[in-house]
Amino acid sequence: MKLMANIPVLTIDGPSGSGKGTIAQLMAKDLGWHYLDSGAIYRVLAQAALKHGVDFADERAVAELAENLDVVFSIQQNDIQVLLEGEDVSTLIRSELAGNAASKVAALPLVRAALLQRQRDFKQLPGLVTDGRDMGTVVFPDASFKVFLNASAQVRAQRRHKQLKEKGIESNLSDLVAEISERDERDSNRTVAPLRPADDALQLDSTSLGIDAVFKQVSALCAG
Ligand code: C5P
Repeated sequence: MKLMANIPVLTIDGPSGSGKGTIAQLMAKDLGWHYLDSGAIYRVLAQAALKHGVDFADERAVAELAENLDVVFSIQQNDIQVLLEGEDVSTLIRSELAGNAASKVAALPLVRAALLQRQRDFKQLPGLVTDGRDMGTVVFPDASFKVFLNASAQVRAQRRHKQLKEKGIESNLSDLVAEISERDERDSNRTVAPLRPADDALQLDSTSLGIDAVFKQVSALCAG
């Protein structure tokens, strides 16, 4: 196992709806490690920009907001509560609109640079499980274990639809397919930290694999 300051890191990257968040949370629980949902930081940042009337096109202003972002993650009865400037935005940031807004601010190079150290600070003993788009390529390139999880856009949209419904958020399946495809396109083609597997990542396709099967394979990777 590659050690970075003796703290192991498991990165799980992939597109929206690939199941990476679910697997990452299960792994964090199983291993007893910390968990970082890096996408939530971009989602909160977009929310902060909307709240303070900062134009997404004003890269410097959004980066400054990122630098000073007042966000707190805390575990509340098995769920992660997200506070922006003390306000609970846990549900608000989970909408597809918020995901799309996140991917717009996430495409800005100064913003990504401003958030780099904040993400790295989550690496604490006994270990960290983190999910996102560039965890294995940019944020934790020396991570002990790397996974890239993918699935077809149709299946990802169906999962998203179900997830949103469970959170009480209404959505339309064909809109979701279109939104997911638009977001994939932006995340994969941006100039900095585009969505792609790290060369040393275990690549898994969850289109026809259940959560249990993916969990087994990721567990085996970490045990090996
Ligand atoms: O993973 P999630 O869907 O919450 O991410 C929301 C958006 O945040 C993604 O579409 C992507 O643009 C951005 N993101 C990113 N890098 C990460 C995590 C998320 O650019 N590590």
